[in-house]
Formats: sequence, C-alpha cells, structure tokens
Amino acid sequence: MKKLIAGNWKMNKCLDTSVTLVNAITQATQDEPVDFFDSVELLVCPTFVHLMPVHNMISRLSQDKAPKIGGQDCSYNDHGAYTGDIAATMLSDIGCEYVILGHSERRTYHSESNEDVAKKAAKAHEAGLSAIVCVGETDEERSAGAAFDVIQKQLEGSLPDSANGKNTVIAYEPVWAIGTGKTASADDVKEMHSFIHEFLSKQLELVDSLRIIYGGSVNETNARELMSLEHVSGALIGGASLKADSFVSIAKQSF
Ligand code: PGA
Repeated sequence: MKKLIAGNWKMNKCLDTSVTLVNAITQATQDEPVDFFDSVELLVCPTFVHLMPVHNMISRLSQDKAPKIGGQDCSYNDHGAYTGDIAATMLSDIGCEYVILGHSERRTYHSESNEDVAKKAAKAHEAGLSAIVCVGETDEERSAGAAFDVIQKQLEGSLPDSANGKNTVIAYEPVWAIGTGKTASADDVKEMHSFIHEFLSKQLELVDSLRIIYGGSVNETNARELMSLEHVSGALIGGASLKADSFVSIAKQSF
C-alpha cells in the first residue's frame, strides 16, 4: 500500500515561505527513483490562501513526482451565506485532492462534533476529495483506560455513509502527542491501528485500500520505526513538515 506522507502546515508560513517550502520539498525529491514515488505519496496542506500559489508551483512539475495538495478543513454546506467558510468543491476546483477533517485543533477550538466531521466528509466525497478523518484520545481518556472506546465512538460518528477505503484516510492522532514532542510508543500505535483496522473492516467497503496514518510528534528520529509498523500506512506531520529537510527525511524513511 502506498504510504501517505502528509504535511499539515496549520496556520504557519507566509506566501513566500510556503512557496519556498514546497519548492525545496520537490527539489529534494526529484531525483528519487521511480520506486520511491510508487511507494510514497507526498501531500502538503498549506493554509487556504496559500493553496493556489503552491498549486501553481507544483503544476510545473512532472505530475508523477509532484506532491499533492490538500485543505485543512472544509464546510459542510455547498455554497451560500456562510461567511469565512470554504466549500469542498472550492478545494477540488483549485486542484486539491485531499482535505483534513476533524483535526483535534478543530474539534477543540471550533467545537466540531463527530456529526460535523461526518457531514464535512460527505461533502468532501461529493466533491471528489479524499477525506483524512482525524481521531484521537486525550491524555485523561488514555489514563482512564478509555482510549479504544473513544476512538470507536469517533469512528462511528465521524464517517458518513459515503466513506469507503478508497476515499477516506483515517489519521490516528493521540491529542497528547500533537505538538508536544511526546510520541505514542510503537506498541501503542500498533495496537490502536490494528483496532481501527479491525473495527472498520466490518463497517467500510474497500477496506483493503484503507490507509490508517499516524500523527503526533512524528520526526526524523521516530519515523522509521513508526512507519514500519503493521497497519501504519503513513504519517500526518505538523511541526516537522515545516522544514523541507525533516519532511523529506521522514518520507525517505517510509520508503
Ligand atoms: P505535530 O502535529 O507533528 O506537530 O505533532 C501533528 C498534527 O497536528 O497533525
């Protein structure tokens, strides 16, 4: 299964530095062998206003070597009087192939519920986008032994009927590991990814194509081990995706 190495740039960078970053990523990967691009799919998710210039930069490259682009959120409405929102069709229209949905920062700072995430994922699918649906337990939930219950509830509530193994990616991101430098142990990641895989085997069509990616302080030091685990088919990377060297190094270690 092709590994998805996704950079979530969050609310970082300015116009110049976004374009410079994607340029540096492409420079650093252009000479990789065909096998690399057959095994690893690179994705960058800049802030909305930088999507178009980043798209313009990568559209000059040979398409089999160019990173894909994705949004960090979308609306659950089609269009209309929703000030500040971005429709899924607007993302696909400018060349996005993915959208990150239900990131813990959206769930926390924008009170997004599982139901909201499911409605957004349905719109993403209608627009032809792959939805990267994020799930993850907090520190308190893990300490209370509730991690598996929490993840199961998030999966049950956040996936629309349209979800299948091809148009959906699950990102397991323990909240306590995001941006903290604390990574989940290999055993914990393996256990949770197997659980998610098993649970979704009963719920989703085309589950053999389903990618379950890990996020939470992935960096150059821990990527090789994490990416080699069973049912880990990529990474959602925040901090380490903001520098071309570390992002590309993670991608190379996943190959
Ligand atoms: P991090 O962020 O790699 O900085 O922990 C991951 C994420 O929020 O997707």
